[in-house]
Amino acid sequence: MSTAISDDKIPNNVNLSSDRRLQRALEQWQPGFINWWKEVGPEGYQADDIYLRTAISVETDGWAHFDYVKMPDYRWGIFLAPPEEGRTIGFGDHAGEPAWQEIPGEYRNMLRRIIVTQGDTEPASVEQQAKLGAIAPSLYDLRNLFQVNVEEGRHLWAMVYLLHNHFGRDGREEADTMLERRSGDADKPRILGAFNQPIENWLDFYMFTMFTDRDGKYQLASLQESAFDALSRTCKFMLTEEAHHMFVGETGVDRIVARSAALMKSDPNEDARAGGGFDLPLIQKYINLWFTLSLDLFGGEISSNAADYFASGLKGRYKEHQHADHAALTGSYRMTVPREGQLVEEDVPLRTAMNEVLRDNYVDDCQRAVDKWNRTLARAGVTNFTLALPHRRFHRKIGIYAGLHFDVTGHRLSAEEFAQRRSEWLPSAYDAAYVASLMTGVFAPGKIASWIAPPSKGINGQSFDFQYVRRA
Ligand SMILES: [Fe+2]
Ligand SMILES: [Fe+2]
Repeated sequence: MSTAISDDKIPNNVNLSSDRRLQRALEQWQPGFINWWKEVGPEGYQADDIYLRTAISVETDGWAHFDYVKMPDYRWGIFLAPPEEGRTIGFGDHAGEPAWQEIPGEYRNMLRRIIVTQGDTEPASVEQQAKLGAIAPSLYDLRNLFQVNVEEGRHLWAMVYLLHNHFGRDGREEADTMLERRSGDADKPRILGAFNQPIENWLDFYMFTMFTDRDGKYQLASLQESAFDALSRTCKFMLTEEAHHMFVGETGVDRIVARSAALMKSDPNEDARAGGGFDLPLIQKYINLWFTLSLDLFGGEISSNAADYFASGLKGRYKEHQHADHAALTGSYRMTVPREGQLVEEDVPLRTAMNEVLRDNYVDDCQRAVDKWNRTLARAGVTNFTLALPHRRFHRKIGIYAGLHFDVTGHRLSAEEFAQRRSEWLPSAYDAAYVASLMTGVFAPGKIASWIAPPSKGINGQSFDFQYVRRA
């Protein structure tokens, strides 16, 4: 009998040791996962000791355990937030009915699609970030990269658990396929656009964890509302880990902005590049890129899928309990819609606008972070430049603005005008080459690259100069 899967190796709160069927399914899947991790996971650090946080329970004050771990030995666990006694469905056509412990047959396909789409993003991001280790700006940042990576691996386990436990044979097939697609691959790409975009440098990485992981937060938060209880509880626990990913992104950008401002103030021409930093217009272009790629992840503004997901109780709104009307049958949402070359205001039935409702919450959250970065600039005495989010019509590939062209303030442009001015707003090959020129790994404890400020504090009470990664 195989001993690959046990409570010891796979920390869990789903009674794995007494569930032979689930054990067998996971036992068959696990070797493929480890092969995948070693083949396309973090490059060059698989044999090293990394100071990592491992989830070992779901208790609020005890779930995070810190120690040195080799990444392939990380204990990818399966955790669901504790069940809520008597939980009922919070929205849609089944509002008030008991939450589902098993999936109703009529919603099986829709739910599988939701779980596969979410699950696919987790390994995708690990693949996208695989080459960043060699060019890390500090050991602290290197460790944070790997923490994000192993937790995205765990999120894949979380989704695979749902597929194995609730979807039988086709669930197992979907779980296998999750290890076969590859980010950016021409033949077998990952499902969603932003997860096929290359992450070539640490500016990309911080923007990705700021903007794209934050999309994940809002998707998980809306799935936490789900009538399917196991999905709800799974996402609820994933959100505790996601918070760290967004912390890495938001503070990472803030540290870059702080460093750029300091370099500007120490140069007679206020040129951040003179001291080996990023100028603010360059940072703005990376914001424009990753914010808009991430906006697309919310899906079309007017969407019958979104309406179906809401009606059937599969996917709610962010903090659904804060809304007054949980049926959303009569309301409407006013949006700006392109009609025959013009932008016109239209009232759209609320249920079909649920993607846009969620996108609104997301945009507000992103704006909050941008405001914070601008306060960092102001504190450093930079008063002639502020960072901003581009208009949500800018650079979209999904939804009603896809195929049209707008500038960063939302004004319509022709395709030719956009092509001519594109490099004013989005990173050009020239910009990427400059960023790449600063990407040299810094691996001495307490040392840091020229283009980013150190963090205000270390991880788990450790100092910045702690040995977060020990080479084998
Ligand atoms: Fe994740
Ligand atoms: Fe994440």
